[in-house]
Amino acid sequence: MISLDIKKKADELRTEINYHNHRYYVLDDPEVSDAEYDKLMRALSALEAKYPELVTPDSPTQRVGAKPLDKFLTVQHKQPMVSLENAMDEAEFEQWYERLMSELKGAKEIDFVAEPKIDGTAVELVYEKGIFKVGSTRGDGMTGELITENLKTIKSIPLRLIEEDFPLPAYLEVRGEVFINKDAFNKLNRERAQKGEELFANPRNAAAGSLRQLDPKITAARPLDIMIHGIGDTKGVKEKTHQDMMEYLSALGLKVIRHSQLCGNLEELKKYHEKMLSERDKIPYEIDGIVIKVNDFSLRDRLGMRARSPRWAIAYKFPAREETTKLLDIKVQVGRTGALTPVAILEPVSVGGVEVSRATLHNQDEIKRLDLKIGDTVVIKRAGDVIPKIVKVITSKPRGKDNFIMPDKCPECGSKIVFPQDEVIARCPNIACPAQVKGRIEHFAQREAMNIEGLGEKIIEQLVNKGLVKDPSDLYALTKDDILKMERMGEKLAQNIMDAIKNSIKEATLPRLIYALGIRHVGEAIAKTIAEHFQSIDEFMEAPQEKLEEIPEIGSVVAETIRQFFSDSSNRKVIEKLKKAGIDPKAGKPKVGKLAGLIFVFTGELEKYPRSKAKEIVESLGGKTSESVSKKVSYVVAGPGAGEKQDKAKKLGIKVIDEKEFLKMVEE
Ligand code: IVH
Repeated sequence: MISLDIKKKADELRTEINYHNHRYYVLDDPEVSDAEYDKLMRALSALEAKYPELVTPDSPTQRVGAKPLDKFLTVQHKQPMVSLENAMDEAEFEQWYERLMSELKGAKEIDFVAEPKIDGTAVELVYEKGIFKVGSTRGDGMTGELITENLKTIKSIPLRLIEEDFPLPAYLEVRGEVFINKDAFNKLNRERAQKGEELFANPRNAAAGSLRQLDPKITAARPLDIMIHGIGDTKGVKEKTHQDMMEYLSALGLKVIRHSQLCGNLEELKKYHEKMLSERDKIPYEIDGIVIKVNDFSLRDRLGMRARSPRWAIAYKFPAREETTKLLDIKVQVGRTGALTPVAILEPVSVGGVEVSRATLHNQDEIKRLDLKIGDTVVIKRAGDVIPKIVKVITSKPRGKDNFIMPDKCPECGSKIVFPQDEVIARCPNIACPAQVKGRIEHFAQREAMNIEGLGEKIIEQLVNKGLVKDPSDLYALTKDDILKMERMGEKLAQNIMDAIKNSIKEATLPRLIYALGIRHVGEAIAKTIAEHFQSIDEFMEAPQEKLEEIPEIGSVVAETIRQFFSDSSNRKVIEKLKKAGIDPKAGKPKVGKLAGLIFVFTGELEKYPRSKAKEIVESLGGKTSESVSKKVSYVVAGPGAGEKQDKAKKLGIKVIDEKEFLKMVEE
């Protein structure tokens, strides 16, 4: 018999984890550090391991763990998942609008909701009494594939809905788009290129492919996200407009589509299209147009359906971002790990308003796959932050003649190129190769790593060429005179760089330093995780393989790469030199600073520090920050221009302080 106390404890842990999950993955506004979140997860896992009867299907521990399937089962959608009519330009959109208005003659005011059209893959989620039960793909619209276990791995999909401000619906089908952020997509493809795996053509294919994996563990490793944009069948739901419905779904903890806007007429809709088109590149995921929907459900019923799409909605697409140009040459670039990357040199062409003259080709296999020859006419695609790429060769145009041949010598240092086993990547094995050295220094100095402001590509190139810097630790031995010798260098800039170098010693944290070392496979996120398991760089450096593999995110390949890195005496020497320069940050865990246990919200302007710096200070003293005011917040720091958040704090009886009082708290 499990005691009531233990049951209660498991339930409390689940509620707390779900709460933080919602803050992090749905609201993008975490309240606790990753380490604290992991601690809660570990506590729940331990409890469930001891008392397996306690495990519920909606427990946050159950996101990954389902066994691989042999094949997908199918499910019948209760209501067909229809598609949308497309308007490819303004004229087509106006036509749709006019037709709709004439059909609705007599209706007083017609509101539309306009929202981004996310370029992902459609899914349906079924919640019974608030619990996520069934998830499926769109399939042919009538029958989809059952992918419940794969969808459970997506952290922005709640396994249990929140029952707080609104009652739970007895039955709820929601529909949305599963997608991958542009940054995450680029990273995924870079990693696949490194491993010699086939690349995804675009984020949509990557999302769809990741969802249709028989092994949920593979899906879990892909950076999938979701936005909900509609409903299917429901029971116990009262909302009568799309806008109210989205608000309701959001209150239930679902991640609903962002940037939507209520519009009352044609002009407003056109303006929204224009606005989203201009903001397209700033949005972290791919959007390929906007969707316009009649807001009122009763008007939707009046309008009804066409053969495959509803009359009450339309996709007003953005112009394509593909262009045709000529492949002039293929050059080879050497990165910081020695990897040789072929780069396409193109006849410059404007794609969606941006001039493109280069495109990455990732590796030799990609060139083979595309059957590229120098001189070919090619279709290129630029998609926001997605690096421009060659989509295909136009084979009906005169073909190019020259095949690309990977050089057998490094174009930068002349060393003989090697092809490590199991990799498609060719590498320059010479760690002193100037291209590698430059790459490593650039990596070390970048903002996310040691953050040495002002130390850009051009200066690094000169420092390396002049032999002043051979590894990152040499930066700390530079004098102002050394820097003054660089081209186009002035007194002030040189001083700024010296200050930035010095500053980077003080500001170094363990995760930043681990990332800055540039160990293969150790990106920013993994570096952060690693830093939570070690007290110092020495402890990390000496960790045996087994200890590294104990860290959940680290598999044998990464652990092996880390071991190799530290078994190289030149790398150990760099670390010794960095320590001598004063860079030896210690883990901040457990954080017991003078602000431990306190949560701060900043609103309005700050004078002394930018807000990001103020947040860093709070965190360095053990406190936390939040973007929104809730009962849990301890202080709201209000500056000039503070509005809603200050009002809310007052309402909730939370202490509001000004910048001066805040500085007194942190500086004393
Ligand atoms: S509403 C009947 N809203 O586009 C209305 N769809 O071409 C059905 N999509 O299958 C869809 N963003 O997967 C809607 N904001 C959005 C959307 C969206 C992307 C996808 C959806 C749909 C396809 C239709």
